[in-house]
Amino acid sequence: MTTPAAHALAQYASTAGNLSAGIAIYEHGTNPQDWYSWVGERLPLDGDVIEVGAGTGALWSRVDHRARGVRLTLADFSPAMCERLSSVPGATVVRAGATELPFPDGSFDGLIANHMLYHLDDPAAGLREFARVLRPGGRLAVSANGRDHLAELMELGARTRTTVLNDFTAETAEEFVGGSFRDVVVRRYPSDLAIPGPEPVLRYLASQGRPPLTTEEEAAVRKFVDERVAADGAFRVRQHAILVTATR
Ligand SMILES: C[S@@+](CC[C@H](N)C(=O)[O-])C[C@H]1O[C@@H](n2cnc3c(N)ncnc32)[C@H](O)[C@@H]1O
Repeated sequence: MTTPAAHALAQYASTAGNLSAGIAIYEHGTNPQDWYSWVGERLPLDGDVIEVGAGTGALWSRVDHRARGVRLTLADFSPAMCERLSSVPGATVVRAGATELPFPDGSFDGLIANHMLYHLDDPAAGLREFARVLRPGGRLAVSANGRDHLAELMELGARTRTTVLNDFTAETAEEFVGGSFRDVVVRRYPSDLAIPGPEPVLRYLASQGRPPLTTEEEAAVRKFVDERVAADGAFRVRQHAILVTATR
């Protein structure tokens, strides 16, 4: 049985393609304001800010850190992601693991970890490291998904392939964050998915860092999604994402 961290390495270390394909499913969100711009309006953006597990840097195509005078550092353990991050204007890119950030204590005013704590073998250790590199009074923003997030897709994936995550979820996040931070506030992003056909679902399942679907599995997914679209006008999938902010 693989661990969350080992799975994340397999999924993300050598390619940014799986992340881009995974994010693409959210183009079918029912909220006209996408997740990144919704998060962008609620971020701590002052002084020295780091995003840990910054991926392809999608957040920074919605948020103009330079206009805000932010000194931005982007960290990710994946060489492929760091390559992509080097195109974010004005950002310093560092290849680093979330539980061993190469910065002295109290280096940052803000720390963002957007959909990454669930990849760690020990999310509490990640949060302690985040507290260490923040200055007293520094602000944290992390996100998580509920256990029912993408439930209909996961059900489909249970018969096929889905990713391996730890127990940092919308249900546990407040307690985890409260272990190292104060003033913890949880906000839910209001949206679901209405997926128009099987192709986005197949691309999503192929992005999960597992062996490819067999011909029979792919046919089963196509049939299931086509039936849902015929019955409901779209394959309706629950989305349950939260943003947690807190103070060091
Ligand atoms: C689901 S993606 C989210 C990317 C980005 N934050 C976003 O929201 O678009 C998770 C990211 O965390 C990175 N990651 C996973 N485990 C990590 C770790 N232990 N240390 C640093 N980065 C990690 C992955 O390489 C990937 O880029």
